[in-house]
Amino acid sequence: MERPFPTVAVVGLGTMGAGVAVALARSGRRVIGVEAGPTQALRALDRIEASTARAVERGRLEAEERAALLALIEVGDDLTAAARADLVVEEVPEDLELKRSLFAELDRICPPETVLATGTTALSVTRIAAATSRPERVLGVHFFNPVHTMRLVEVVRTVLTDPQVAEGVAELARDLGKEPVAAGDRAGFIANGLLFAYLNQAAAMFESRYATREDIDAAMRLGCGLPMGPLALLDLIGIDTARTVLEAMYAQSKDRLHAPAPILGQLVAAGLLGRKSGRGFYAYEAPGSSKVVPEARADARPRAAGREVRSIGVCGSGTMATGIVEVFAKAGFPVLLAARSQEKAERAKAQLARSLERSVARGRLSEQARDAALALVTPTGSYRDLAEVDLVVEAVAEDLAVKRELFAALDELVKPGAVLATTTSSLPVISCATATSRPRDVVGMHFFNPAPAMKLVEVVSTVLTAEDVTATVLELCAKVRKHPVECGDRAGFIVNALLFPYLNDAVRMLQEHYATVDDIDTAMKLGCGYPMGPFELLDVVGLDVSLTIEQVLHQEFREPGLAAAPLLEHLVAAGCLGRKTGRGFRDHARR
Ligand SMILES: NC(=O)c1ccc[n+]([C@@H]2O[C@H](COP(=O)([O-])OP(=O)(O)OC[C@H]3O[C@@H](n4cnc5c(N)ncnc54)[C@H](O)[C@@H]3O)[C@@H](O)[C@H]2O)c1
Repeated sequence: MERPFPTVAVVGLGTMGAGVAVALARSGRRVIGVEAGPTQALRALDRIEASTARAVERGRLEAEERAALLALIEVGDDLTAAARADLVVEEVPEDLELKRSLFAELDRICPPETVLATGTTALSVTRIAAATSRPERVLGVHFFNPVHTMRLVEVVRTVLTDPQVAEGVAELARDLGKEPVAAGDRAGFIANGLLFAYLNQAAAMFESRYATREDIDAAMRLGCGLPMGPLALLDLIGIDTARTVLEAMYAQSKDRLHAPAPILGQLVAAGLLGRKSGRGFYAYEAPGSSKVVPEARADARPRAAGREVRSIGVCGSGTMATGIVEVFAKAGFPVLLAARSQEKAERAKAQLARSLERSVARGRLSEQARDAALALVTPTGSYRDLAEVDLVVEAVAEDLAVKRELFAALDELVKPGAVLATTTSSLPVISCATATSRPRDVVGMHFFNPAPAMKLVEVVSTVLTAEDVTATVLELCAKVRKHPVECGDRAGFIVNALLFPYLNDAVRMLQEHYATVDDIDTAMKLGCGYPMGPFELLDVVGLDVSLTIEQVLHQEFREPGLAAAPLLEHLVAAGCLGRKTGRGFRDHARR
Protein backbone atom coordinates (compact mmCIF):
# COMPACT_ATOMS: atom_id res chain seq x y z
CA MET A 1 0.00 0.00 0.00
CA GLU A 2 1.21 3.51 -0.76
CA ARG A 3 2.29 5.52 2.25
CA PRO A 4 -0.26 8.12 3.19
CA PHE A 5 0.40 11.74 2.26
CA PRO A 6 3.78 11.67 0.45
CA THR A 7 3.87 15.49 0.27
CA VAL A 8 2.82 17.60 3.25
CA ALA A 9 2.69 21.36 3.58
CA VAL A 10 3.31 22.82 7.05
CA VAL A 11 2.04 26.36 7.48
CA GLY A 12 3.68 28.19 10.37
CA LEU A 13 7.12 26.90 11.34
CA GLY A 14 7.39 28.06 14.95
CA THR A 15 7.87 25.78 17.96
CA MET A 16 5.40 23.16 16.75
CA GLY A 17 5.55 23.61 12.97
CA ALA A 18 9.33 23.27 12.79
CA GLY A 19 9.17 20.08 14.88
CA VAL A 20 6.40 18.63 12.72
CA ALA A 21 8.28 19.49 9.50
CA VAL A 22 11.38 17.64 10.73
CA ALA A 23 9.36 14.60 11.83
CA LEU A 24 7.68 14.43 8.40
CA ALA A 25 10.94 14.78 6.47
CA ARG A 26 12.56 12.15 8.68
CA SER A 27 9.90 9.73 7.46
CA GLY A 28 10.98 10.48 3.88
CA ARG A 29 8.14 12.83 3.00
CA ARG A 30 8.48 16.01 0.98
CA VAL A 31 7.72 19.02 3.14
CA ILE A 32 6.58 22.39 1.84
CA GLY A 33 7.07 24.85 4.68
CA VAL A 34 5.20 28.16 4.50
CA GLU A 35 5.89 31.11 6.76
CA ALA A 36 4.30 34.55 7.10
CA GLY A 37 7.05 36.47 5.23
CA PRO A 38 10.61 36.22 3.88
CA THR A 39 12.33 37.10 7.19
CA GLN A 40 10.18 34.60 9.09
CA ALA A 41 10.96 31.98 6.43
CA LEU A 42 14.70 32.50 6.90
CA ARG A 43 14.32 32.33 10.66
CA ALA A 44 12.31 29.13 10.35
CA LEU A 45 14.98 27.52 8.20
CA ASP A 46 17.61 28.51 10.78
CA ARG A 47 15.48 26.95 13.50
CA ILE A 48 15.19 23.68 11.58
CA GLU A 49 18.88 23.59 10.78
CA ALA A 50 19.84 24.35 14.37
CA SER A 51 17.51 21.77 15.92
CA THR A 52 18.66 19.01 13.56
CA ALA A 53 22.31 19.95 14.16
CA ARG A 54 21.66 19.57 17.91
CA ALA A 55 20.09 16.17 17.25
CA VAL A 56 23.26 15.09 15.42
CA GLU A 57 25.46 16.39 18.28
CA ARG A 58 23.41 14.42 20.79
CA GLY A 59 23.56 11.28 18.70
CA ARG A 60 19.81 11.26 18.00
CA LEU A 61 20.40 11.62 14.25
CA GLU A 62 23.12 10.62 11.79
CA ALA A 63 24.75 13.45 9.79
CA GLU A 64 23.70 11.80 6.52
CA GLU A 65 20.13 11.43 7.74
CA ARG A 66 20.16 15.11 8.57
CA ALA A 67 21.37 16.06 5.10
CA ALA A 68 18.73 13.83 3.54
CA LEU A 69 15.90 15.24 5.60
CA LEU A 70 16.96 18.85 5.06
CA ALA A 71 16.97 18.17 1.31
CA LEU A 72 13.30 17.18 1.60
CA ILE A 73 12.25 20.44 3.27
CA GLU A 74 11.62 23.63 1.31
CA VAL A 75 10.66 26.81 3.11
CA GLY A 76 9.04 29.86 1.56
CA ASP A 77 6.38 32.46 2.15
CA ASP A 78 4.02 31.70 -0.71
CA LEU A 79 0.91 29.88 0.48
CA THR A 80 0.00 28.79 -3.06
CA ALA A 81 2.87 26.27 -2.82
CA ALA A 82 0.51 24.29 -0.56
CA ALA A 83 -1.45 23.38 -3.71
CA ARG A 84 1.19 20.68 -4.37
CA ALA A 85 0.58 18.95 -1.04
CA ASP A 86 -1.62 15.95 -0.22
CA LEU A 87 -2.07 17.22 3.31
CA VAL A 88 -1.68 20.66 4.87
CA VAL A 89 -0.83 20.91 8.58
CA GLU A 90 -1.45 24.35 10.02
CA GLU A 91 0.69 25.41 13.01
CA VAL A 92 0.18 29.20 13.17
CA PRO A 93 -0.48 31.01 16.48
CA GLU A 94 -3.57 30.12 18.49
CA ASP A 95 -6.00 32.72 17.09
CA LEU A 96 -9.37 31.69 15.70
CA GLU A 97 -9.71 34.46 13.11
CA LEU A 98 -6.16 33.90 11.85
CA LYS A 99 -6.78 30.17 11.48
CA ARG A 100 -10.21 30.60 9.87
CA SER A 101 -8.98 33.03 7.23
CA LEU A 102 -5.99 30.78 6.54
CA PHE A 103 -8.28 27.78 6.03
CA ALA A 104 -10.58 29.76 3.73
CA GLU A 105 -7.53 30.64 1.66
CA LEU A 106 -6.15 27.09 1.65
CA ASP A 107 -9.59 25.91 0.54
CA ARG A 108 -9.34 28.17 -2.51
CA ILE A 109 -5.71 27.22 -3.25
CA CYS A 110 -5.73 23.46 -2.76
CA PRO A 111 -7.42 20.83 -4.96
CA PRO A 112 -10.66 19.50 -3.45
CA GLU A 113 -9.11 16.21 -2.27
CA THR A 114 -6.34 17.84 -0.18
CA VAL A 115 -6.78 17.19 3.54
CA LEU A 116 -6.47 20.25 5.80
CA ALA A 117 -5.40 19.74 9.43
CA THR A 118 -5.17 22.30 12.22
CA GLY A 119 -2.69 22.09 15.07
CA THR A 120 -4.92 24.00 17.47
CA THR A 121 -4.82 23.15 21.17
CA ALA A 122 -8.03 24.71 22.40
CA LEU A 123 -9.91 26.31 19.50
CA SER A 124 -12.92 24.68 17.87
CA VAL A 125 -11.85 22.51 14.93
CA THR A 126 -15.47 22.60 13.74
CA ARG A 127 -15.43 26.39 13.45
CA ILE A 128 -12.15 26.28 11.57
CA ALA A 129 -13.58 23.62 9.24
CA ALA A 130 -16.67 25.77 8.66
CA ALA A 131 -14.48 28.37 6.97
CA THR A 132 -13.92 25.89 4.11
CA SER A 133 -16.15 24.23 1.54
CA ARG A 134 -14.77 20.76 2.46
CA PRO A 135 -15.41 20.26 6.19
CA GLU A 136 -15.36 16.46 5.65
CA ARG A 137 -11.66 16.76 4.74
CA VAL A 138 -10.77 18.99 7.71
CA LEU A 139 -9.60 17.67 11.09
CA GLY A 140 -7.31 18.44 14.02
CA VAL A 141 -3.88 16.91 14.48
CA HIS A 142 -2.55 17.77 17.91
CA PHE A 143 1.15 17.08 18.44
CA PHE A 144 2.86 17.63 21.79
CA ASN A 145 5.89 19.75 22.51
CA PRO A 146 8.74 18.87 21.90
CA VAL A 147 7.56 17.00 18.83
CA HIS A 148 10.70 14.84 18.52
CA THR A 149 10.30 13.27 21.97
CA MET A 150 6.55 13.28 22.59
CA ARG A 151 4.90 10.26 21.04
CA LEU A 152 1.27 11.25 21.47
CA VAL A 153 -0.79 12.66 18.61
CA GLU A 154 -4.48 13.41 19.10
CA VAL A 155 -6.38 13.03 15.84
CA VAL A 156 -9.46 15.19 16.22
CA ARG A 157 -12.62 14.59 14.23
CA THR A 158 -15.52 16.97 14.00
CA VAL A 159 -19.03 15.67 13.36
CA LEU A 160 -18.38 16.28 9.66
CA THR A 161 -14.91 14.74 9.30
CA ASP A 162 -14.83 11.70 7.02
CA PRO A 163 -13.69 8.77 9.22
CA GLN A 164 -11.40 7.56 6.43
CA VAL A 165 -9.63 10.90 6.39
CA ALA A 166 -9.07 10.62 10.16
CA GLU A 167 -7.81 7.06 9.77
CA GLY A 168 -5.39 8.19 7.05
CA VAL A 169 -3.95 10.86 9.33
CA ALA A 170 -3.71 8.35 12.20
CA GLU A 171 -1.76 6.07 9.89
CA LEU A 172 0.54 8.93 8.99
CA ALA A 173 1.14 9.52 12.71
CA ARG A 174 2.03 5.84 13.17
CA ASP A 175 4.38 6.10 10.23
CA LEU A 176 6.14 8.96 12.07
CA GLY A 177 6.63 6.65 15.05
CA LYS A 178 3.86 8.33 17.01
CA GLU A 179 0.93 6.89 18.89
CA PRO A 180 -2.32 8.39 17.58
CA VAL A 181 -5.46 8.52 19.72
CA ALA A 182 -8.90 9.42 18.42
CA ALA A 183 -10.66 12.40 19.97
CA GLY A 184 -13.74 14.45 19.24
CA ASP A 185 -13.83 18.22 18.92
CA ARG A 186 -13.86 19.47 22.48
CA ALA A 187 -11.61 22.09 24.08
CA GLY A 188 -8.48 20.44 25.39
CA PHE A 189 -9.23 17.14 23.65
CA ILE A 190 -8.24 14.20 25.86
CA ALA A 191 -4.91 14.92 27.53
CA ASN A 192 -5.24 18.66 28.13
CA GLY A 193 -8.95 18.28 28.92
CA LEU A 194 -8.08 16.05 31.87
CA LEU A 195 -4.82 17.79 32.77
CA PHE A 196 -5.99 21.39 32.90
CA ALA A 197 -9.03 20.72 35.09
CA TYR A 198 -6.64 19.17 37.62
CA LEU A 199 -4.12 22.01 37.32
CA ASN A 200 -6.94 24.46 37.92
CA GLN A 201 -7.99 22.68 41.13
CA ALA A 202 -4.39 22.74 42.33
CA ALA A 203 -4.21 26.49 41.70
CA ALA A 204 -7.48 26.96 43.59
CA MET A 205 -6.17 24.83 46.47
CA PHE A 206 -3.09 27.02 46.71
CA GLU A 207 -5.21 30.15 46.46
CA SER A 208 -7.36 29.05 49.40
CA ARG A 209 -4.13 28.65 51.42
CA TYR A 210 -5.02 25.06 52.16
CA ALA A 211 -1.40 24.05 51.59
CA THR A 212 1.82 25.66 50.39
CA ARG A 213 2.92 25.49 46.75
CA GLU A 214 5.86 23.26 47.72
CA ASP A 215 3.60 20.87 49.63
CA ILE A 216 0.99 20.66 46.86
CA ASP A 217 3.70 19.90 44.30
CA ALA A 218 5.55 17.40 46.50
CA ALA A 219 2.27 15.65 47.37
CA MET A 220 1.42 14.98 43.72
CA ARG A 221 4.93 13.94 42.76
CA LEU A 222 5.49 11.64 45.70
CA GLY A 223 1.91 10.49 46.22
CA CYS A 224 1.06 9.80 42.56
CA GLY A 225 4.46 9.47 40.90
CA LEU A 226 3.77 12.40 38.59
CA PRO A 227 6.81 13.83 36.81
CA MET A 228 6.11 17.36 38.09
CA GLY A 229 3.90 19.04 40.65
CA PRO A 230 0.89 20.95 39.27
CA LEU A 231 2.05 24.46 40.19
CA ALA A 232 5.55 23.93 38.80
CA LEU A 233 3.89 22.57 35.65
CA LEU A 234 1.63 25.63 35.35
CA ASP A 235 4.76 27.78 35.53
CA LEU A 236 6.33 25.71 32.76
CA ILE A 237 3.27 25.78 30.49
CA GLY A 238 2.80 29.51 31.05
CA ILE A 239 0.04 30.90 33.26
CA ASP A 240 -1.43 32.88 30.33
CA THR A 241 -1.61 29.82 28.08
CA ALA A 242 -3.16 27.74 30.86
CA ARG A 243 -5.74 30.42 31.50
CA THR A 244 -6.64 30.60 27.80
CA VAL A 245 -7.08 26.83 27.58
CA LEU A 246 -9.26 26.83 30.71
CA GLU A 247 -11.36 29.72 29.37
CA ALA A 248 -11.97 27.70 26.19
CA MET A 249 -12.85 24.61 28.21
CA TYR A 250 -15.25 26.57 30.40
CA ALA A 251 -16.89 28.21 27.39
CA GLN A 252 -17.82 24.76 26.13
CA SER A 253 -18.50 22.81 29.31
CA LYS A 254 -19.90 25.55 31.59
CA ASP A 255 -18.43 23.41 34.37
CA ARG A 256 -17.32 25.69 37.20
CA LEU A 257 -14.31 23.43 37.79
CA HIS A 258 -13.01 24.62 34.39
CA ALA A 259 -13.48 28.31 35.19
CA PRO A 260 -9.91 29.55 35.63
CA ALA A 261 -9.04 29.98 39.30
CA PRO A 262 -8.97 33.72 40.07
CA ILE A 263 -5.30 33.55 41.00
CA LEU A 264 -4.43 32.67 37.40
CA GLY A 265 -6.01 35.92 36.24
CA GLN A 266 -4.18 37.86 38.93
CA LEU A 267 -0.82 36.39 37.96
CA VAL A 268 -1.44 37.11 34.27
CA ALA A 269 -2.50 40.70 35.03
CA ALA A 270 0.70 41.16 37.04
CA GLY A 271 2.82 39.80 34.19
CA LEU A 272 3.84 36.78 36.27
CA LEU A 273 3.48 34.21 33.52
CA GLY A 274 5.68 31.46 34.91
CA ARG A 275 9.20 30.43 33.94
CA LYS A 276 9.23 32.49 30.77
CA SER A 277 8.82 35.73 32.71
CA GLY A 278 10.97 34.62 35.66
CA ARG A 279 8.07 34.39 38.09
CA GLY A 280 4.72 32.66 38.41
CA PHE A 281 3.78 30.45 41.35
CA TYR A 282 7.53 30.25 42.00
CA ALA A 283 10.32 32.78 41.46
CA TYR A 284 13.10 31.77 39.05
CA GLU A 285 16.68 32.92 38.76
CA ALA A 286 15.97 34.69 35.44
CA PRO A 287 13.30 34.72 32.74
CA GLY A 288 13.40 31.36 30.98
CA SER A 289 15.37 29.71 33.78
CA SER A 290 14.17 26.54 35.48
CA LYS A 291 16.08 27.30 38.67
CA VAL A 292 13.76 28.22 41.53
CA VAL A 293 15.03 30.82 43.98
CA PRO A 294 13.83 30.75 47.57
CA GLU A 295 11.71 33.67 48.70
CA ALA A 296 11.38 35.15 52.15
CA ARG A 297 7.80 34.64 53.24
CA ALA A 298 6.08 37.58 54.83
CA ASP A 299 4.03 35.31 57.11
CA ALA A 300 6.95 33.08 58.18
CA ARG A 301 7.21 32.64 61.92
CA PRO A 302 9.19 30.32 64.15
CA ARG A 303 7.71 26.87 64.57
CA ALA A 304 6.95 25.23 67.88
CA ALA A 305 9.37 22.44 68.81
CA GLY A 306 7.96 18.93 68.77
CA ARG A 307 7.55 16.60 71.73
CA GLU A 308 10.10 13.90 72.30
CA VAL A 309 9.32 10.53 70.72
CA ARG A 310 11.30 7.53 71.99
CA SER A 311 8.78 4.75 71.59
CA ILE A 312 5.85 4.23 69.27
CA GLY A 313 2.70 2.12 69.27
CA VAL A 314 0.90 1.11 66.08
CA CYS A 315 -2.71 -0.13 66.31
CA GLY A 316 -3.87 -2.54 63.64
CA SER A 317 -2.61 -5.63 61.88
CA GLY A 318 -3.43 -4.95 58.22
CA THR A 319 -1.37 -3.80 55.24
CA MET A 320 -0.94 -0.20 56.39
CA ALA A 321 -0.24 -1.02 60.04
CA THR A 322 2.39 -3.61 59.11
CA GLY A 323 4.02 -1.25 56.60
CA ILE A 324 4.11 1.61 59.09
CA VAL A 325 5.65 -0.61 61.80
CA GLU A 326 8.35 -1.49 59.26
CA VAL A 327 9.07 2.19 58.61
CA PHE A 328 9.53 2.99 62.31
CA ALA A 329 11.47 -0.16 63.19
CA LYS A 330 13.88 0.31 60.29
CA ALA A 331 14.55 3.84 61.54
CA GLY A 332 15.47 2.44 64.97
CA PHE A 333 12.31 3.11 67.00
CA PRO A 334 11.03 0.49 69.42
CA VAL A 335 7.49 -0.29 68.24
CA LEU A 336 4.57 -1.98 69.97
CA LEU A 337 2.42 -3.63 67.33
CA ALA A 338 -0.99 -3.71 69.02
CA ALA A 339 -3.81 -5.73 67.47
CA ARG A 340 -7.17 -7.03 68.67
CA SER A 341 -5.59 -10.34 69.73
CA GLN A 342 -2.10 -11.61 70.42
CA GLU A 343 -2.49 -14.00 67.51
CA LYS A 344 -3.34 -11.23 65.02
CA ALA A 345 -0.37 -9.20 66.28
CA GLU A 346 1.99 -12.19 65.92
CA ARG A 347 0.69 -12.77 62.40
CA ALA A 348 1.31 -9.14 61.47
CA LYS A 349 4.86 -9.41 62.80
CA ALA A 350 5.40 -12.53 60.69
CA GLN A 351 4.15 -10.56 57.70
CA LEU A 352 6.65 -7.82 58.53
CA ALA A 353 9.42 -10.42 58.77
CA ARG A 354 8.54 -11.63 55.26
CA SER A 355 8.63 -8.09 53.91
CA LEU A 356 12.06 -7.48 55.47
CA GLU A 357 13.23 -10.80 54.06
CA ARG A 358 12.22 -9.67 50.57
CA SER A 359 14.27 -6.50 51.03
CA VAL A 360 17.27 -8.61 52.05
CA ALA A 361 16.78 -10.88 49.01
CA ARG A 362 16.73 -7.81 46.76
CA GLY A 363 19.90 -6.51 48.33
CA ARG A 364 18.16 -3.44 49.78
CA LEU A 365 18.65 -4.38 53.43
CA SER A 366 21.46 -6.12 55.27
CA GLU A 367 20.77 -9.16 57.44
CA GLN A 368 21.93 -7.24 60.52
CA ALA A 369 19.54 -4.39 59.75
CA ARG A 370 16.71 -6.91 59.28
CA ASP A 371 17.45 -8.55 62.65
CA ALA A 372 17.78 -5.18 64.37
CA ALA A 373 14.44 -3.99 62.97
CA LEU A 374 12.63 -7.20 63.92
CA ALA A 375 14.07 -7.09 67.44
CA LEU A 376 12.53 -3.63 67.91
CA VAL A 377 8.98 -4.86 67.24
CA THR A 378 6.90 -6.28 70.07
CA PRO A 379 3.53 -7.75 69.15
CA THR A 380 0.75 -7.43 71.69
CA GLY A 381 -2.92 -8.26 71.86
CA SER A 382 -3.58 -5.71 74.58
CA TYR A 383 -3.92 -1.98 74.01
CA ARG A 384 -3.06 -1.57 77.71
CA ASP A 385 0.58 -2.13 76.75
CA LEU A 386 0.49 1.22 74.96
CA ALA A 387 0.33 3.11 78.28
CA GLU A 388 3.91 4.41 78.15
CA VAL A 389 4.49 5.06 74.45
CA ASP A 390 5.11 8.63 73.25
CA LEU A 391 3.13 8.31 70.04
CA VAL A 392 0.34 6.02 68.87
CA VAL A 393 -0.45 5.59 65.18
CA GLU A 394 -3.90 4.15 64.56
CA ALA A 395 -4.24 2.12 61.33
CA VAL A 396 -7.38 0.04 61.91
CA ALA A 397 -10.42 -0.36 59.63
CA GLU A 398 -11.66 2.74 57.73
CA ASP A 399 -14.85 2.94 59.78
CA LEU A 400 -15.59 5.97 61.92
CA ALA A 401 -17.35 4.02 64.69
CA VAL A 402 -14.39 1.62 64.98
CA LYS A 403 -11.88 4.45 65.02
CA ARG A 404 -13.80 6.53 67.55
CA GLU A 405 -14.10 3.57 69.87
CA LEU A 406 -10.36 2.98 69.63
CA PHE A 407 -9.56 6.66 70.28
CA ALA A 408 -11.83 6.65 73.33
CA ALA A 409 -9.95 3.58 74.59
CA LEU A 410 -6.54 5.16 73.89
CA ASP A 411 -7.67 8.24 75.79
CA GLU A 412 -8.20 6.04 78.88
CA LEU A 413 -5.02 3.99 78.47
CA VAL A 414 -2.20 6.11 77.07
CA LYS A 415 -0.15 8.47 79.24
CA PRO A 416 -0.93 12.20 79.10
CA GLY A 417 1.18 14.15 76.60
CA ALA A 418 1.41 11.30 74.10
CA VAL A 419 0.58 12.15 70.51
CA LEU A 420 -2.34 10.22 68.99
CA ALA A 421 -2.28 9.93 65.21
CA THR A 422 -4.81 8.48 62.76
CA THR A 423 -3.93 7.21 59.29
CA THR A 424 -7.44 7.70 57.91
CA SER A 425 -7.65 8.63 54.24
CA SER A 426 -11.28 9.67 54.04
CA LEU A 427 -12.69 10.26 57.51
CA PRO A 428 -12.48 13.55 59.42
CA VAL A 429 -9.52 13.57 61.82
CA ILE A 430 -11.53 15.83 64.11
CA SER A 431 -14.11 13.06 64.63
CA CYS A 432 -11.34 10.85 66.01
CA ALA A 433 -10.07 13.75 68.13
CA THR A 434 -13.44 14.46 69.74
CA ALA A 435 -13.74 10.85 70.87
CA THR A 436 -10.98 11.71 73.35
CA SER A 437 -10.72 14.22 76.18
CA ARG A 438 -7.51 15.56 74.57
CA PRO A 439 -8.28 16.63 70.99
CA ARG A 440 -5.20 18.89 71.03
CA ASP A 441 -3.02 15.79 70.96
CA VAL A 442 -4.71 14.24 67.94
CA VAL A 443 -3.34 14.63 64.41
CA GLY A 444 -3.58 12.89 61.03
CA MET A 445 -0.67 10.98 59.51
CA HIS A 446 -1.76 9.84 56.09
CA PHE A 447 0.73 7.30 54.77
CA PHE A 448 0.55 5.89 51.24
CA ASN A 449 0.53 2.25 50.28
CA PRO A 450 3.03 0.51 50.37
CA ALA A 451 4.19 2.53 53.37
CA PRO A 452 7.84 1.36 53.36
CA ALA A 453 8.28 2.49 49.73
CA MET A 454 6.11 5.60 49.44
CA LYS A 455 7.92 8.73 50.63
CA LEU A 456 4.89 10.90 51.22
CA VAL A 457 3.02 11.49 54.48
CA GLU A 458 0.20 14.02 54.65
CA VAL A 459 0.26 15.59 58.09
CA VAL A 460 -3.24 16.72 58.91
CA SER A 461 -3.94 19.28 61.62
CA THR A 462 -7.48 19.85 62.81
CA VAL A 463 -8.71 23.19 64.12
CA LEU A 464 -7.86 21.88 67.60
CA THR A 465 -4.47 20.20 67.02
CA ALA A 466 -1.72 21.77 69.15
CA GLU A 467 1.20 23.25 67.25
CA ASP A 468 3.76 21.12 69.05
CA VAL A 469 1.80 18.00 68.11
CA THR A 470 2.00 18.86 64.41
CA ALA A 471 5.68 19.67 64.92
CA THR A 472 6.25 16.28 66.61
CA VAL A 473 4.90 14.43 63.59
CA LEU A 474 6.82 16.60 61.11
CA GLU A 475 10.07 15.94 63.00
CA LEU A 476 9.31 12.25 63.21
CA CYS A 477 8.72 12.06 59.44
CA ALA A 478 12.15 13.54 58.85
CA LYS A 479 13.70 10.96 61.22
CA VAL A 480 12.08 8.05 59.37
CA ARG A 481 13.00 9.59 56.00
CA LYS A 482 9.51 10.39 54.84
CA HIS A 483 8.54 13.61 53.11
CA PRO A 484 5.79 15.31 55.13
CA VAL A 485 3.36 17.79 53.62
CA GLU A 486 1.01 19.80 55.80
CA CYS A 487 -2.68 20.33 55.22
CA GLY A 488 -5.97 20.91 56.97
CA ASP A 489 -8.62 18.38 57.95
CA ARG A 490 -10.65 18.46 54.77
CA ALA A 491 -11.92 15.61 52.60
CA GLY A 492 -9.22 14.09 50.40
CA PHE A 493 -6.42 16.12 52.01
CA ILE A 494 -4.14 17.16 49.13
CA VAL A 495 -3.53 14.08 46.99
CA ASN A 496 -6.96 12.48 46.86
CA ALA A 497 -8.71 15.84 46.50
CA LEU A 498 -6.71 16.47 43.33
CA LEU A 499 -6.42 12.91 42.05
CA PHE A 500 -9.98 11.59 42.27
CA PRO A 501 -11.77 14.44 40.49
CA TYR A 502 -9.35 13.83 37.62
CA LEU A 503 -10.11 10.09 37.64
CA ASN A 504 -13.82 10.92 37.73
CA ASP A 505 -13.41 13.25 34.72
CA ALA A 506 -11.77 10.39 32.85
CA VAL A 507 -14.72 8.11 33.65
CA ARG A 508 -17.10 10.82 32.47
CA MET A 509 -15.14 11.16 29.23
CA LEU A 510 -15.55 7.42 28.68
CA GLN A 511 -19.21 7.42 29.64
CA GLU A 512 -19.88 10.17 27.10
CA HIS A 513 -18.19 8.02 24.43
CA TYR A 514 -15.74 10.83 23.86
CA ALA A 515 -12.76 8.47 23.79
CA THR A 516 -11.92 4.86 24.62
CA VAL A 517 -10.32 3.40 27.75
CA ASP A 518 -7.11 2.64 25.85
CA ASP A 519 -6.94 6.03 24.15
CA ILE A 520 -7.49 7.93 27.40
CA ASP A 521 -4.85 5.87 29.22
CA THR A 522 -2.42 6.31 26.33
CA ALA A 523 -3.06 10.05 26.15
CA MET A 524 -2.25 10.58 29.84
CA LYS A 525 0.84 8.39 29.81
CA LEU A 526 2.34 9.72 26.59
CA GLY A 527 0.98 13.27 26.67
CA CYS A 528 1.58 14.02 30.37
CA GLY A 529 4.20 11.46 31.40
CA TYR A 530 1.93 9.83 33.99
CA PRO A 531 3.14 6.44 35.21
CA MET A 532 -0.33 4.93 34.71
CA GLY A 533 -3.43 5.93 32.81
CA PRO A 534 -6.56 6.80 34.83
CA PHE A 535 -8.31 3.47 34.10
CA GLU A 536 -5.23 1.42 34.94
CA LEU A 537 -5.04 3.30 38.21
CA LEU A 538 -8.76 2.94 38.99
CA ASP A 539 -8.53 -0.83 38.42
CA VAL A 540 -5.55 -1.05 40.78
CA VAL A 541 -7.01 1.17 43.52
CA GLY A 542 -10.38 -0.57 43.31
CA LEU A 543 -13.56 0.93 41.89
CA ASP A 544 -15.40 0.64 45.22
CA VAL A 545 -12.62 2.43 47.11
CA SER A 546 -12.53 5.11 44.41
CA LEU A 547 -16.29 5.58 44.49
CA THR A 548 -16.24 6.02 48.28
CA ILE A 549 -13.55 8.70 48.04
CA GLU A 550 -15.46 10.50 45.29
CA GLN A 551 -18.62 10.41 47.36
CA VAL A 552 -16.80 11.81 50.37
CA LEU A 553 -15.36 14.63 48.21
CA HIS A 554 -18.75 15.43 46.72
CA GLN A 555 -20.39 15.37 50.14
CA GLU A 556 -17.76 17.78 51.50
CA PHE A 557 -17.60 20.31 48.68
CA ARG A 558 -21.09 19.85 47.11
CA GLU A 559 -19.56 20.75 43.79
CA PRO A 560 -21.77 19.35 40.99
CA GLY A 561 -18.69 18.50 38.91
CA LEU A 562 -17.45 16.24 41.73
CA ALA A 563 -20.49 13.94 41.71
CA ALA A 564 -19.31 10.41 40.94
CA ALA A 565 -19.81 9.46 37.30
CA PRO A 566 -22.81 7.08 37.00
CA LEU A 567 -20.67 4.62 35.02
CA LEU A 568 -18.45 4.15 38.08
CA GLU A 569 -21.50 3.55 40.28
CA HIS A 570 -22.85 1.03 37.78
CA LEU A 571 -19.61 -0.93 37.63
CA VAL A 572 -19.41 -1.05 41.42
CA ALA A 573 -23.06 -2.17 41.63
CA ALA A 574 -22.26 -4.90 39.10
CA GLY A 575 -19.37 -6.13 41.24
CA CYS A 576 -16.72 -5.02 38.76
CA LEU A 577 -14.28 -3.61 41.29
CA GLY A 578 -11.03 -3.76 39.33
CA ARG A 579 -8.09 -6.13 39.53
CA LYS A 580 -9.23 -7.65 42.80
CA THR A 581 -12.40 -9.07 41.18
CA GLY A 582 -10.79 -9.72 37.80
CA ARG A 583 -12.84 -7.08 36.07
CA GLY A 584 -13.14 -3.31 36.25
CA PHE A 585 -12.66 -0.95 33.32
CA ARG A 586 -10.64 -3.76 31.76
CA ASP A 587 -11.07 -7.48 31.92
CA HIS A 588 -8.08 -8.80 33.87
CA ALA A 589 -9.20 -12.39 34.10
CA ARG A 590 -8.74 -13.09 30.42
CA ARG A 591 -5.35 -11.43 30.14
N1 LIG B 1 3.78 25.24 21.97
C1 LIG B 1 3.14 24.18 22.41
O1 LIG B 1 3.49 23.62 23.46
C2 LIG B 1 1.98 23.60 21.63
C3 LIG B 1 1.65 22.26 21.81
C4 LIG B 1 0.63 21.70 21.03
C5 LIG B 1 -0.06 22.50 20.13
N2 LIG B 1 0.25 23.83 20.00
C6 LIG B 1 -0.51 24.59 19.02
O2 LIG B 1 0.25 24.63 17.83
C7 LIG B 1 -0.01 25.83 17.11
C8 LIG B 1 1.33 26.54 16.85
O3 LIG B 1 1.88 26.93 18.09
P1 LIG B 1 3.44 27.27 18.31
O4 LIG B 1 3.73 27.13 19.74
O5 LIG B 1 4.25 26.52 17.33
O6 LIG B 1 3.45 28.82 17.92
P2 LIG B 1 4.70 29.73 17.49
O7 LIG B 1 4.33 31.12 17.82
O8 LIG B 1 5.96 29.16 18.01
O9 LIG B 1 4.75 29.56 15.89
C9 LIG B 1 3.80 30.08 14.99
C10 LIG B 1 4.47 30.36 13.65
O10 LIG B 1 3.48 30.69 12.71
C11 LIG B 1 3.98 31.72 11.89
N3 LIG B 1 2.83 32.41 11.27
C12 LIG B 1 2.02 33.35 11.79
N4 LIG B 1 1.08 33.71 10.88
C13 LIG B 1 1.29 32.97 9.79
C14 LIG B 1 0.67 32.89 8.50
N5 LIG B 1 -0.39 33.64 8.21
N6 LIG B 1 1.16 32.03 7.60
C15 LIG B 1 2.22 31.25 7.88
N7 LIG B 1 2.86 31.30 9.07
C16 LIG B 1 2.40 32.14 10.01
C17 LIG B 1 4.79 32.57 12.83
O11 LIG B 1 5.72 33.36 12.11
C18 LIG B 1 5.45 31.53 13.70
O12 LIG B 1 6.68 31.10 13.20
C19 LIG B 1 -0.97 26.63 17.95
O13 LIG B 1 -2.28 26.42 17.50
C20 LIG B 1 -0.77 26.05 19.34
O14 LIG B 1 -1.91 26.19 20.15
C21 LIG B 1 1.27 24.38 20.71
